[in-house]
Amino acid sequence: MRTASHFANGEALPGPRGLPYFGSYFDVMSDRLGLFTDGRDQFGDVVRYKFGPFRFVVLHDPDAIHHVLVKHHSRYVKSRSYDGLRLVMGNGLVTSEGDFWKRQRKLSQPAFHRKRLATLASTMGGLSEELVTQWSSRHSQDLDLHEAMMRLTLRIVGHTLFSTELSAEAGRLGPAITTALHRANLEAETAIRLPLWIPTPSNLRFHRAQRILDSAIGAIIAERRATPTDRGDLLSMLMQVEDEETREQMTDQQLRDEVLTLFLAGHETIATHMSWTWKLLTEHPAWARAVREEAESVLGGRSPTLEDLPKLEIAGRVIQESMRLYPPVWIMERTAKVDDEVCGRMIEKDTIVAACPWTLHRHPALWTDPLRFDPDRFLPDRSAGRHRYAYIPFGAGPRICIGNNFALMEAKIILTTLIQRFAVQVHHPERVGLDPGITLRPAGGMPGTVRVMS
Ligand code: HEM
Repeated sequence: MRTASHFANGEALPGPRGLPYFGSYFDVMSDRLGLFTDGRDQFGDVVRYKFGPFRFVVLHDPDAIHHVLVKHHSRYVKSRSYDGLRLVMGNGLVTSEGDFWKRQRKLSQPAFHRKRLATLASTMGGLSEELVTQWSSRHSQDLDLHEAMMRLTLRIVGHTLFSTELSAEAGRLGPAITTALHRANLEAETAIRLPLWIPTPSNLRFHRAQRILDSAIGAIIAERRATPTDRGDLLSMLMQVEDEETREQMTDQQLRDEVLTLFLAGHETIATHMSWTWKLLTEHPAWARAVREEAESVLGGRSPTLEDLPKLEIAGRVIQESMRLYPPVWIMERTAKVDDEVCGRMIEKDTIVAACPWTLHRHPALWTDPLRFDPDRFLPDRSAGRHRYAYIPFGAGPRICIGNNFALMEAKIILTTLIQRFAVQVHHPERVGLDPGITLRPAGGMPGTVRVMS
């Protein structure tokens, strides 16, 4: 039982009063990024909210984030927001907990080993080159850059995970993914959840989307089981790995959940990141020129190999700075399993605790001129002394993104391949809105023009 002395050293948490019962529910529904930014500026580094029946705390302090995500991570589990993702992904790496998660993470880790990633770099380069060929058919064309990046990253994830061409399926899979993630998001946001068996239009759309995703992934797994040769892709690796103690391999259900998880986690995040990068480079043409000149001098027009990647330093800093200003995963939530004291603040059991890269990466106490696009802030001499947990686009601690090296490699390959051949311009970049769902999507896409460089 909790007693008053239990929190003797802890301070009460500051935060907005909000409405009776609803708290700040309507504010968070109308502008969540604004609410958390204002909260940070008004109440400090650990801010308390009430959203209907839920207690919610946002951490803007890197020490507090270290406490929750790293040092005392076992006092927390992923929050109810992940229930929506669990509906779609099942019990895969993003959503599972405890010993099961630990075992699956250990089994999956070798698939992301740097040596394994080497073979994937040429696949990523080849598919980016195919987009170059497609875009080169016209001198200049208007398109939705976000949609184009989603298609490219879907193809890359299809080839690298399953050695499968998904472009023919993109017409069905793309909308199914959007519907499934939209439903997952809704599940996370609503306080009262209607059971899935009630045939509401939203539930029916969700079931249809799920059937499309399941049949696409089921067919790939069944085909692999029938001819189980090593194709050198992530699915082959996941099918081969064995638990060291039990010698067991993953069941079809586990494979389905892990593959769908990697498929969803590994494509929209990168597409979103690429879209924001094109916006930032449109607004900062000198940086676009610098990335292009570096790429031309290192690559001479071709796409990069794994050996080239460390030489593309400017591109690397632009990617880091883009993920600082527009972190694709803009919030990570946990639920406290026990009462906890975080940097002198009281966190009650069952409170939802969030680390928010959006507010953290723009925190004036942690970053000089935080809203300015300045990739050179990631030069080694300017990074010295920065708090290790001030920059967490891939999370932190044992649940850190398993695909972070894969993602950084893919982003660099796409950026440097395309920028050598095209001037990519986002239309009215200052008007592109933010749509903070599970990822930080551009609201209404990212209309732009691609023009062949003369
Ligand atoms: C720019 C691209 C990406 C970003 C910004 C990103 C970000 C993140 C973040 C912040 C987390 C931690 C979530 C939390 O702690 O609640 C995470 C977890 C995860 N990500 Fe990524 N991710 C990216 C790309 C990828 C890719 C390419 C893959 C796979 C191919 C991937 C697979 C995963 C998985 C499986 C997890 C769960 C890991 C675990 O809990 O053990 N991600 N990601």
